[in-house]
Amino acid sequence: MPGFVRATPRHTSWVVWLAAIVCAVLAIAVIITGIVVFAIYIIYQPKMPYIKVAYAQLNNLVYDQSGLLEIEMVLRLVAENDNKKAHASFSDLSFLLQFHRINVAELRADPFDVAKNSSLELDYLFQSSSIPLDQAAMENMDVALKKGIVSFDLSGHARTRWRVGIFLSVKFRTDLSCELRFFRQNGSAVNLNCNSKSD
Ligand SMILES: *[C@@H]1O[C@H](CO)[C@@H](O)[C@H](O)[C@H]1NC(C)=O
Ligand SMILES: *[C@@H]1O[C@H](CO)[C@@H](O)[C@H](O)[C@H]1NC(C)=O
Repeated sequence: MPGFVRATPRHTSWVVWLAAIVCAVLAIAVIITGIVVFAIYIIYQPKMPYIKVAYAQLNNLVYDQSGLLEIEMVLRLVAENDNKKAHASFSDLSFLLQFHRINVAELRADPFDVAKNSSLELDYLFQSSSIPLDQAAMENMDVALKKGIVSFDLSGHARTRWRVGIFLSVKFRTDLSCELRFFRQNGSAVNLNCNSKSD
């Protein structure tokens, strides 16, 4: 039959058998993986690790009527792993502190691990440069100073995953966005309640 290329039947069936076996093995592997993941999830019930602000203090705030703002602040972030049986790791941690949408400071950390049922403190002490405020931020600062309470916004995220034995979860993103308010008089935080818990 000119024009047709005939494959030998034996060769075809060999390839088909091989493909069928590979598919079967893959399907079984997928099912077993699914069962193992499900079992780990049921047995360990991992909770999402998260970041919280444990302490905040506005050590110093210098503001003059030309609109230049300079602050010194202490922030203690805590990476919490409430899992009794799973380790947690954090990466890509990055937070931005703003006053009325004007950047004041950026906080970062290298990747780190937190043992099971444990936490890790990240202490930041920073001194901003002299930051020029725009008109809206200047008005906001005037009001804040009259009220005696100054607010900053802290927002950002980290990636986190947990590990049980050799099993690693996918990375989750944990987001944090809060308002940090300080008494002008003594710099202590007002009703500090800031975490990236997703519930
Ligand atoms: C977890 O930590 C708490 C307090 O840090 C402790 O009381 C508790 O016994 C720990 N649980 C386990 C299973 O390690
Ligand atoms: C800071 O000042 C506020 C109000 O003036 C007060 O309620 C708060 O207890 C003070 N904090 C400290 C640590 O003294």
